[in-house]
Amino acid sequence: MSEVTTKRVISFSPPDISELEIAEVAEALRSGWITTGPRTKMLECRLAAYIETGKTDVDCTTKEAIAKYSQKVVCLNSATAAEELNLRILGIKEGDEVIVPAYTYTASASAAVHCGATIKFVDIQKDGDPVTHMPEMDYDVLEAAIGPKTKAIIPVDLGGIVCDYDWIFDIVERKKSLFNPVESDGTPLGDLSSRIQKAIGRVAVVCDAAHALGASRVVGGAKKYVGSIADFTSFSFHAVKNFTTAEGGASTWRSLPGIDNAEIYKMFQLLSLHGQNKDALAKTKIGAWEYDIIGPWYKCNMTDIMAAIGLRQLDRYLGMLERREIMMKRYDAICDELGISHMIHHTENMDSSNHLYLIRIPGIDVETRNLIIEKMAECGIATNVHYKPLPMMTAYGKDCSGYPNSYDYYHNLITLPFHTLLSDEDVEYVCEVLKETITEVKGK
Ligand SMILES: Cc1ncc(COP(=O)(O)O)c(C=O)c1O
Repeated sequence: MSEVTTKRVISFSPPDISELEIAEVAEALRSGWITTGPRTKMLECRLAAYIETGKTDVDCTTKEAIAKYSQKVVCLNSATAAEELNLRILGIKEGDEVIVPAYTYTASASAAVHCGATIKFVDIQKDGDPVTHMPEMDYDVLEAAIGPKTKAIIPVDLGGIVCDYDWIFDIVERKKSLFNPVESDGTPLGDLSSRIQKAIGRVAVVCDAAHALGASRVVGGAKKYVGSIADFTSFSFHAVKNFTTAEGGASTWRSLPGIDNAEIYKMFQLLSLHGQNKDALAKTKIGAWEYDIIGPWYKCNMTDIMAAIGLRQLDRYLGMLERREIMMKRYDAICDELGISHMIHHTENMDSSNHLYLIRIPGIDVETRNLIIEKMAECGIATNVHYKPLPMMTAYGKDCSGYPNSYDYYHNLITLPFHTLLSDEDVEYVCEVLKETITEVKGK
């Protein structure tokens, strides 16, 4: 750090919580209803409206809006739960294969493991997508990996950059003849899964959109928001995400021919609340205590305290995305000046949710990358690495030799701090320290 610069403390990704969220949480606490209730239902409705229209201010108290947007999004306690329930509703089970990029967070794969499926990892394209540099799957390898046991693929919209869904849908359509839909086992869940697999009629596209709320892409010739592109989608509202409910997440899906959205929504409710056919709100009606347990299922519902944070975050969300874009332009400029490869979050046909800022420094090894991280930390700047490829992890076999592009992408990668609590001066400080550190390290 140059002598004239004053040291700053820059956290990696603290939550951006304003007085609005705090007041809404206090209201929820005072309301007497703190578990899943009216605030969760309102957040579900407003998120569905956002995913359909790109607008965060749709009035979801009107009859029309409720009819149009309710029961299309299910809020849950994490993206991991959302992805797992997506796969469970699809009927993914032991003996099935699920394809996951080698370059992602463990949750993209572990949710499928929880369902009993076998994971098939697919390497990424060399240096990521040629335009966005996002570590996106190698689609030729993906196509070759699809076999008769494949039931789902999990594209990851990493950093908020939307995958090439036109290409992905072309692949699964081409491989349609290999697909074997599951037959009903006579249970309500098994029956629904079988009808869903038959309605989709090919390998399901189950998007991990943990980073990508608000991102959009032209797919099939029309601009679509993430959540309305893949067959099923999971979002994360974890504390480090653009949009947070502390912990939290949501599932959504595309309407399927012959299957009522309300039926899918109801199954999500059952799966997330012990398989109990009446939730706490329904049981408050006079004399309505009695309930049945349809299946011995899970407990991963969102509470109204979480939804209270989400409602006020949604009011502010478009402004937060704009702020991220301004900071991104400054990072783009310094990276271009230093010859550092970086993610491109906006293209002619795609707008990212500007979630992560990944940079890759040419000509360095892993040790030098780690040294840069340490030196920036000494200057008060927290950075990160998104991600260490999953095959390198103990849980996934600790052998990355079959995924050379993933290893190569990771080895010189650093994630810069990128959040809406950064001031312009903070961003300048990060740029200055990055420049000095790289010049120093490379000069050695
Ligand atoms: C790509 C990806 N998928 C899934 C998840 C899981 O999200 P959650 O913590 O909400 O379960 C994360 C969390 O960081 C993630 O980065």
